[in-house]
This record gives sequence, C-alpha cells and structure tokens, in this order.
Amino acid sequence: MSFALQTISEDEFQAFQHLIYTETGIALNDSKRCLLSSRLGKRLRALQLNDYLEYYEYILRRDADGTEMQEMINCITTNKTDFLREPHHFEFLSTRLFPAIVRKAATGGPRKVRIWCAASSHGHEPYSLAMTVREFAPFEASWDVRILASDIDTNVLARAEEGVFDVEDLAPVGDLRMRRYFDRGTGAFAGKVRAKRRLRELLTFRQLNLIEDVWPIHAKFDAIFCRNVMIYFDLPTQRKVVEHLVRYLKPGGFLMLGHSESIQWTPSPVQPLGNTIFQLAE
Ligand SMILES: C[S@@+](CC[C@H](N)C(=O)[O-])C[C@H]1O[C@@H](n2cnc3c(N)ncnc32)[C@H](O)[C@@H]1O
Repeated sequence: MSFALQTISEDEFQAFQHLIYTETGIALNDSKRCLLSSRLGKRLRALQLNDYLEYYEYILRRDADGTEMQEMINCITTNKTDFLREPHHFEFLSTRLFPAIVRKAATGGPRKVRIWCAASSHGHEPYSLAMTVREFAPFEASWDVRILASDIDTNVLARAEEGVFDVEDLAPVGDLRMRRYFDRGTGAFAGKVRAKRRLRELLTFRQLNLIEDVWPIHAKFDAIFCRNVMIYFDLPTQRKVVEHLVRYLKPGGFLMLGHSESIQWTPSPVQPLGNTIFQLAE
C-alpha cells in the first residue's frame, strides 16, 4: 500500500514539539518543521497511519510499553559524530588527567579510572576514548579502567556496542592505529572494520536520558564527555543537565562540553579551564 504523506499542520507540529521537548529536552524551533515531518513520516508509513495527528494519538493511547515513543525518539535525534572529534580533549586526558591519576596512585591513590561519554551516538567518541586509554602506557593490566557510554537513542547504542564502523570513518584515526585497534571485515563486511576486543572490553553501554531527574548511575567519574548535545537543549535544560553531570564528578574531575557549547554561565561548582573543559575543585 502506498499513499502520499500530508505535510504536518501547525497544530500537529506544535503537539510534537511539546512532546519531544518534555521527553528528550530537544527544543525544535519552527525551522525544523520539514525535518520533523520527513523523519516522522517514516513511522507513519511503518504503522500505516494517515496523518501526524493519528500518529500522535497512537503514541499517547496505543503505546502502553513505550516502544513507539522510543522509535520516535530514535527518529528525531541527530547523531553526527566522528573519531577523535575536537582532539584537544583527548590530548588533555593523556597529558593532564592520566598522568595526575598515576602520580596519585604512586602515593597510595586508587589504580582506577572512570570515564563517562554521556551522548555517545554511533560510538566514535567512546572508542576514541578507549584508544586514548590504551595508548597511555602506564595503564598496564593491573589498572581498573572503565568507560561508560550512554545515549537516549537505542539504535545508535546498539550499533556502538557492536563496534562496527565504515572504513572511511577511520580517516582521523590513521593507518597505524587502525591496524592496532580494528579488524578489517571481509565478505559481507568488506569496507567495514570492527573494534578489537582490547577496546571493546573497556566499554559498557547503557541507555540514559540526560533530562531525567534520576540517573541509574552510582559511580563518580574522573572525566565526563558530554559533547555536542547541549546545542539541542534550551538554556534551562542545559543548566539542569550540566549541574546534574557535575554531581557525578570525582573531586578534581573534568567535564568536557562541545566546542559549540560555550555556555554563557559558569556552572557551579566547576571552574572553566578554557576549550570547554571544566574542573571540579579537589
Ligand atoms: C550530535 S550527537 C553528538 C555525539 C558525540 N557526543 C560527539 O560529540 O561526536 C548528539 C547525541 O545526543 C543524543 N541525545 C539527544 N538528546 C539526548 C538526551 N536527552 N539524553 C541523552 N542523549 C541525548 C543523540 O541521540 C545523539 O546521539
């Protein structure tokens, strides 16, 4: 069966704008009307619904287990990412954070490192973190190093957990690291690479919605990467999320935001160090 999709009406757009904002924090302005209409159009076709109002009512009244709500969220997220994006943040780990942790360990501190990548998308960012950890020689086997990767989008999380990428995506990584950390696919996987176990074993993947009031996380982190997601939130949501993230930093821990997220306020109680890096006092 095929049918032409109606364009989304003003009322329908506003209903979804509000629903998406309350569920995800993503603030869609009016210029996103076409984008929303085309992304949700896929779900209307999959469910054989006639218009956006029917889809809205479907989510509200016929989606008891939340499956369709999650499908909708997966459709509307923007997942652009890259390996080693904004490389200065990874260099900061190797040159500042990791050596400081090793120095503390030499005087009795824990041989333990915890990093959280809080909007991990397809996985390029957490695997870049895993490479950065593996390249820091002092973290030999007896160190307990873990990276938590989370996102609201269950599709990208599932792909990230597989650790399979297009070969072209590895361009920023370079040939040497590609051979060291990735296996080339053959047959049906030609043109793909898969992260080796030595990267995958550092990572744990978990769905997490940053705007929820309670997060199912009990650890504290040496560094939290929450990059290029705040741009989708309005100012009150940004504040709420950043202040929540800061509570998950260990004393002296670092919060990294994306370059386009030079937030207008200093989130207490962290200090800005420049390059969208913030540090919690020791
Ligand atoms: C543009 S990507 C950024 C990926 C990566 N951090 C980077 O900088 O390359 C934004 C990611 O934020 C996720 N996201 C959007 N809203 C979210 C929310 N409320 N909670 C958690 N993740 C969210 C999206 O699913 C998407 O994967």
